[in-house]
Amino acid sequence: MQKEYKRYLITSALPYANGPIHIGHLAGVYVPADIYARYMRLRGRNVCFVGGSDEHGVPITIKARQLGITPQDIVDKYHTLIKESFLRLGISFDVYSRTTSKIHHKTASEFFKKLYDEGKFLEKETEQYYDPEAKAFLADRYIVGTCPRCGHPEAYGDQCEKCGSTLSPDELINPHSSISGSIPEKRKTKHWYLPLDQYEPWLKEWILENHKEWKPNVYGQCKSWLDNGLQPRAVSRDLDWGVPVPVEGAEGKVLYVWFDAPIGYISNTIELYPDSWETWWKSEDTKMVHFIGKDNIVFHCIVFPSMLKAHGGYILPENVPANEFLNLEGEKISTSRNWAVWLHEYLDEFPDQQDVLRYTLCATTPETKDNDFTWKEFQARNNNELVAILGNFVNRAVVLTHKYFNGAVPQKARMTAFDSEITEMIPGIKKALEDHLEHYRFRDSLKEAMNLARLGNKYLADTEPWKVAKTDMERVGTILNISLQICACLTIALEPFLPFTTDKLRKILNIPEQLPWSSFGERDLLAAGHTLNEPVLLFRKIEDAEVETQVAKLKKPVKKEIVPALPSCTIDDFSKMDIRVATVLQAEKVPKTDKLLKLTIDTGLDQRVIVSGIAEYYRPEEMTGRQICLLANLLPRKIRGIESQGMILMAKEPDGAMRLVAPLEGIGNGAVIG
Ligand code: MF3
Ligand code: ZN
Repeated sequence: MQKEYKRYLITSALPYANGPIHIGHLAGVYVPADIYARYMRLRGRNVCFVGGSDEHGVPITIKARQLGITPQDIVDKYHTLIKESFLRLGISFDVYSRTTSKIHHKTASEFFKKLYDEGKFLEKETEQYYDPEAKAFLADRYIVGTCPRCGHPEAYGDQCEKCGSTLSPDELINPHSSISGSIPEKRKTKHWYLPLDQYEPWLKEWILENHKEWKPNVYGQCKSWLDNGLQPRAVSRDLDWGVPVPVEGAEGKVLYVWFDAPIGYISNTIELYPDSWETWWKSEDTKMVHFIGKDNIVFHCIVFPSMLKAHGGYILPENVPANEFLNLEGEKISTSRNWAVWLHEYLDEFPDQQDVLRYTLCATTPETKDNDFTWKEFQARNNNELVAILGNFVNRAVVLTHKYFNGAVPQKARMTAFDSEITEMIPGIKKALEDHLEHYRFRDSLKEAMNLARLGNKYLADTEPWKVAKTDMERVGTILNISLQICACLTIALEPFLPFTTDKLRKILNIPEQLPWSSFGERDLLAAGHTLNEPVLLFRKIEDAEVETQVAKLKKPVKKEIVPALPSCTIDDFSKMDIRVATVLQAEKVPKTDKLLKLTIDTGLDQRVIVSGIAEYYRPEEMTGRQICLLANLLPRKIRGIESQGMILMAKEPDGAMRLVAPLEGIGNGAVIG
């Protein structure tokens, strides 16, 4: 039996405010969550759709340090950008706040304090890496070294981004701090742990017994965590960015970001409903649903529920319909490689086409396994479905009504058996749509909603009112009346998916207010005689050139992050290098290569030949006569059969481009740099 709920508390993962939103986030979390929230509202249910920025955590502090700005600067910038781009896409949050807010700090701090006071945490001293120069404990991310698996020289202490291995700082070869470059040492530090092992029997029953209906990917991941046995998890960190641990003697410690972030759902509800938030979080007749991506499952199904249970008084999620990941053009989305479609850029480049993205993403939601977004499919879905079916149907129905009936809904006269067959299919579509949406099957639900447009389109194609018009205007009236009723139904069926389109469609049909779900399928949503407005096109064709531009943009060289600091060296290390000013006498391309120039240079000591990989950045004629800096005592190397005697100093831009480093003013060849 289905339980009756009075409230629907719908949360969507709080994105980290250290970068913009991309299509992977949208397809996995925000588009499905928004469809669900809009659908529930249409059904007249009491909905609170919570979003917000997750503004703590180590990566934000690293990015700030690299850019020479504060973490607050970073989160201010991205919170604003993210919030605005969600709004522009029509993601209908009831509240979108942030975890740096006062209210959140207070809520998270009190939550921790209660658990602390009640002895719900373990206190443990462990050894952590410490940077003696920066005088700070180092998160694993802050330790850089060579990857033991693939030899990548810039692997992080928690992960190698080159080969994808999960690492621990102990495994790195030549580990050093990315803050100061110094070699980290181990020091003792105290932290608080949530003893998840104690919650294991309860979690097993709650999830494995009582929530067998959760999606297989979610249930399966939970089961594997629970079968492997849970360990206590640290809920504090040595860091100066976050919610301070509200305990005496805990200076320099903050709550672990995954402890405070989910409490953000509560804080944001408090911000929205300062007086009534507790009915949302503490009554059994509230249904809470978390929309997240698969990398968040353990936190939302195991850690956060254990926190809520430890605290007491809170409801638990009724479902956690997590999705898998969306790939892009066959490859994993990567923000560092800029292999992504960024929401704010899409909105700028495809103005007034929000629904095309919403549609394509919903149609490719990675519900059961990873899925792939391609620009070709985006174009095809737009041209073959939105334009050719939905747009075409609505346009024909409205244009013909203007043509034959002055834009007034005609009378429905005799219905044929075929008419009845068509109209009788509508309740079935409605029912299937409800069933899919109630069960988080968003792709199927979209297909079903589009079936209504397909039905209308086919009805017009089969009845051919433009031909019937030559003989029987009464029949034409009936056909158009039925078609227009289907159009009116579409303003309801499609609203959760394509809210911008249904807005336009309501304007065309002259329906001033959104119709509720309950009127979906009513026979006469539009009375005979009701006048329509002028038609406008709901969608436009997307040309090959537009998608080609997008694909080309993906293939452009990517921005790289600043290279981390190296370990310290001594002046002796430096003075082993003989660096001098020299002048290029001659330059030519090395035959059959794209990258190499052969340079003859005057070093003051001698004339010599150097082969340098700068042909992509400098033409031979730009080099002749130019002064450069030279590492003169580098052992000679043969490159393409030419002996190269030294190396020209270059600066590498973050995007990979190489630029010459040269003296500001003319200096005699052979002058020593040091
Ligand atoms: N910021 C996290 C991520 O992007 C999600 C946090 S969800 C919350 O993976 F529950 F912690 F807020
Ligand atoms: Zn590696």
